[in-house]
Amino acid sequence: MKEAEKLTEIKAFVFRLFHDDVTGHDDNHMQRVAEWSRLLAVKEGADPFLSEVAGWLHDVGDDKLFASKEEAIKERDELLRNLHFSERDITYIHHAIETVSFRKGKTPDTLLGKVVQDADRLDAIGAIGIARTFAFGGAKNQPLYRKEGGSSFSHFHEKLLLLKDKMNTPSGREEADRRHQFMEEFINQFNRETASE
Ligand code: ADP
Ligand code: NI
Repeated sequence: MKEAEKLTEIKAFVFRLFHDDVTGHDDNHMQRVAEWSRLLAVKEGADPFLSEVAGWLHDVGDDKLFASKEEAIKERDELLRNLHFSERDITYIHHAIETVSFRKGKTPDTLLGKVVQDADRLDAIGAIGIARTFAFGGAKNQPLYRKEGGSSFSHFHEKLLLLKDKMNTPSGREEADRRHQFMEEFINQFNRETASE
């Protein structure tokens, strides 16, 4: 079975699971993370195909998106077995994905985990990161902005502005710097527009 055929099946699986998401974790998020995972893998010397696969699948089983983490992971691994991935690669992908979540603050101990985590972090910052933050906040009935904090806007200071210094790879860091700069411009303008006398 060719890699392209495997990816077609994986995309269909991801589309089915995430297409209806409105919290910024839809199939387009998975696609961007998959593409950036491959790109960073090429630059950093990780396996491009496995990185792309792990990028597509990195949010399968995330406990904020799935009622049963175990069921979702079982389904994912069944798919990979049907697509003739080796047990070694399935374990490698599983282990990398387990270390990706930045909410849980883990640092991946494999290059695969490092590039996928960087790709996921890139999608949390810059223009797309700004859009996803307010989409997430809207979906969770969170206020857009409050001076005292506890709003979608405060998420920038709580997490998103900290991400560039946590990037694992030099090429991830390079792109993160660009996106960070854009977020700072957005925040400055936002503050200017919302400042009262
Ligand atoms: P991960 O799933 O990678 O562990 P999170 O679920 O914390 O990370 O964040 C994924 C994205 O969801 C963030 O990039 C952000 O856009 C959005 N998000 C998460 N928590 C919040 C929040 N409290 N307010 C606004 N957006 C949030
Ligand atoms: Ni993600």
